Amino acid sequence: MNSHDSPRADIVLTVNGRQYPVTIDPTRNLLNTLRTEVGLTGTKEGCDDCECGACMVLLDGQPVNSCSYLAVQAEGRAITTIEGVMTGDELHPLQRNLLEEGGVQCGFCTPGMIISATALLARSSTPSDEEIQIGLSGNLCRCTGYAKIIAAVRRTAVELAAELDAP
Ligand code: FES
Ligand code: FES
Repeated sequence: MNSHDSPRADIVLTVNGRQYPVTIDPTRNLLNTLRTEVGLTGTKEGCDDCECGACMVLLDGQPVNSCSYLAVQAEGRAITTIEGVMTGDELHPLQRNLLEEGGVQCGFCTPGMIISATALLARSSTPSDEEIQIGLSGNLCRCTGYAKIIAAVRRTAVELAAELDAP
């Protein structure tokens, strides 16, 4: 089979509120499509086997491993990547607190951690440490030992709750 015979799919992905038309092999995963066709490389490839969480994105607000998700299945759904977490030039509180608590070393796990933590804080505004550990259990970090990451998520939850309580 030559390249002209390869199946192709024309789809439109909605990523961080913008629409991206792409033509891809329909067996291509969302991670690879985001990085190479859409040009958003913040989402990382670690294991490519649904084990490390480095490739985590939100689909309609739910965290998924984009390495194990076909791009064609994401058409028509709202995809949020790490590039969509900031507000303008302002870091998301999770990003700021991860930096301030020392929860970033090599940084390879960080985008996936932030995506999972964002989903966790959307579900539970005052998570216990155990809930944070469970919420991040799909994200592996080889550098930090996790304690500083958990501290950053805890601090973010406290800050966001205080903002909600502010008059
Ligand atoms: S690269 Fe997707 S879970 Fe590891
Ligand atoms: S900071 Fe290096 S893997 Fe988490």
